[in-house]
Amino acid sequence: MSAQEKINILILDDEKQFTEELHEFFEKSGFEAFEANTEKESRKILNSHNIDLLILDVRLPGVNGLDILKEVKVQFPSMEVIVVSAHGDMDTVIKAMRLGAFDYLRKPFRHIDIQIAIERTQKYLQLNRKLKLMEERNSLISKNLEKKIDRQFIGVSPKTLRVFEAAVTASKYPDANVLITGESGTGKENIARIIHYSSPRKDHVFCAVNSCAISENLMESEFFGHKKGAFTGAVSDKMGFFEVCNQGTLFLDEIADMPFNLQAKILRATEERVITRVGDTKQIQTDFRIISATNHDIELNVENKKFRLDLLHRLNTLHIHLPPLRERREDIEPLLLHFVNTYAIRFNRPNIRVGPGVIDALMKYDFPGNIRELRNMTERAIILAQGDTLGVSDFPVKASKSANGIQVDEIVDLKTTEIALIRKVLQNCKFNQQSSADALGITRDALIRKMKKYNITINKGEEK
Ligand SMILES: Nc1ncnc2c1ncn2[C@@H]1O[C@H](COP(=O)(O)OP(=O)(O)OP(=O)(O)O)[C@@H](O)[C@H]1O
Ligand SMILES: [Mg+2]
Repeated sequence: MSAQEKINILILDDEKQFTEELHEFFEKSGFEAFEANTEKESRKILNSHNIDLLILDVRLPGVNGLDILKEVKVQFPSMEVIVVSAHGDMDTVIKAMRLGAFDYLRKPFRHIDIQIAIERTQKYLQLNRKLKLMEERNSLISKNLEKKIDRQFIGVSPKTLRVFEAAVTASKYPDANVLITGESGTGKENIARIIHYSSPRKDHVFCAVNSCAISENLMESEFFGHKKGAFTGAVSDKMGFFEVCNQGTLFLDEIADMPFNLQAKILRATEERVITRVGDTKQIQTDFRIISATNHDIELNVENKKFRLDLLHRLNTLHIHLPPLRERREDIEPLLLHFVNTYAIRFNRPNIRVGPGVIDALMKYDFPGNIRELRNMTERAIILAQGDTLGVSDFPVKASKSANGIQVDEIVDLKTTEIALIRKVLQNCKFNQQSSADALGITRDALIRKMKKYNITINKGEEK
């Protein structure tokens, strides 16, 4: 058995002679064994070692062994338990098995009995480990694929080609900060990744941070890190984003919403490339490049004193603007074909084709959610298409153009309209927040913020 497969066994029984004897037997058989004669002792070992198997005597003085079984199954769900019971106590055995015990042994038992029981458990544990490993590997592979797909740059329009040229320039100046502006779904993060992965920083971290997704009281420690004990909950030293991104790229999404009081600190870190962890005095050097993105008019935020002008100047050494898809319609066809191809592979539908009229219909549509909307539309069309040819009716381009069925005469003011639209879209999307955000052409975080702002709640049971 390889070291990785060696299993750790803990024996909990009040009879010292019994635990000692088993302990010795297990060690001789090549297992890592521990023994405890009281519940307290067993707790210590369970909390400090990775125990795979617990041999538990259910008749411990003063405590109910079944209660211990219940608790450890919750606290250590991947640990298996073999219960040891007295002869004739079938009732307890049945209860124990119902509570998740893997096997049972009745005292007195022979070494051969326990050996068989352990071999059975061991096989099960090993299979479980293999399964976990495979799941981890699979998720790594799919994450990698995802990243690859998300780094494609498709487009033929002169506007898109200019964006591409600007990205190439940015990749050649790895210390210059870049500000990317553009409506939601135009490809800001996509271009940020392209810049990073074609720059000399490519072998280091690309860390994407959406400041709206972090609660305000944790923001400083997330960016700067903290020292153990700096505040309640700071149980160990922790690196912040600036340190994690040493030699890499920090992508700050939705920069316009960055809390004002943090902006001065971010500015200082960006200028000096030196940071101090919360609760610490030591200065740490870190070499990062910031690529930031916003879909708001950030200059307006500067005018309204919500965003610092000096920070804006610092962040937009290079500025790349991504025009909305409706202003570069020549990109629609190549993007559509690219997404059809991507999803045909992903869903194993190699014969899927785009039927007549689809491109014409898409060319007339305004795509408020830009490239993301086109991508989602294509994914949905392929999933729902009856045959192998995608038709115009597979793309919901007409329905969503009229603001999801809201009539002009219903419109009272912008706020009321916005609330009504959000409600309607949530309903249409069966209260799935991500799909609703996609349909609205905003991010999920932005949707959640708006729902909070307007006090739009989802009843229990509706949420997906
Ligand atoms: N030029 C492109 N070629 C291929 N795919 C693209 C291109 N631009 C964007 N995409 C795809 O469109 C989707 C949306 O892009 P991205 O997330 O970069 O938009 P965004 O501007 O950051 O949106 P938001 O403001 O909502 O965060 C992603 O799946 C991305 O891979
Ligand atoms: Mg984005």
